[in-house]
Amino acid sequence: MNKSANFSNIHKFYDLINSLLTLGFDKSWRRQAARNLKPGNVLDLGSGTGASYEDLKRFDVVALDPDENMLSLNKFQNKVVGMGENLPFDNNYFDNIFCCFVLRNVDNIEKTFNEVSRVLKKDGKFILLDMSRPRNNILKQFHKIGTYIVMHLIGLITFNLKEYRFLHFSLDKLPPPEELLVDINLEKKMLKRIGLFGFVYLGVFENQNLITD
Ligand SMILES: C[S@@+](CC[C@H](N)C(=O)[O-])C[C@H]1O[C@@H](n2cnc3c(N)ncnc32)[C@H](O)[C@@H]1O
Repeated sequence: MNKSANFSNIHKFYDLINSLLTLGFDKSWRRQAARNLKPGNVLDLGSGTGASYEDLKRFDVVALDPDENMLSLNKFQNKVVGMGENLPFDNNYFDNIFCCFVLRNVDNIEKTFNEVSRVLKKDGKFILLDMSRPRNNILKQFHKIGTYIVMHLIGLITFNLKEYRFLHFSLDKLPPPEELLVDINLEKKMLKRIGLFGFVYLGVFENQNLITD
């Protein structure tokens, strides 16, 4: 796991802070993302405390996360400690992979996408929800100042300045999704901006590769 994002330190506050930061919209964004799932099983990649539980509970779910403290609060029955870069599953195993607010935390995105494509069945779906920055330059600057102030404030109040500083800086860690998600080994079905000023994005991809061993 990325050493600068130690979710263990903030696992007890994670859901509350997430809801505060997104004014409760994170739930409706996850719900919107989950509408794109196809019938079958689901890997909740970077499941954390299981914030997707209500949206995924009707499916057969494996919740994977590297952080045991986050997983200790997770209500899914089938929980696995592991990382996106090295998924402990057979080829062509899942009908869906659901991945919310995780991509900025993985150390190796290319490896993670390769693993996603390997463990997804052919025509399996990869649903990706994450935060970025607004596309408009003025709004982007406003957003940067806003997240700087809010994240530092929460970090100071909860005595976890390092973790919340990371969450602020991680928003600039990756290129915008329109650039980042061009050359990946999954077929893009949809990529759209949502949320205030479009600082959140939702991507839906399909796996066209069948791995034969
Ligand atoms: C911001 S939380 C998101 C949790 C949950 N998916 C949600 O919707 O709220 C990010 C999660 O990604 C996990 N994570 C960090 N590095 C990871 C990696 N390399 N592979 C998979 N998950 C990772 C963290 O432990 C943390 O639980």
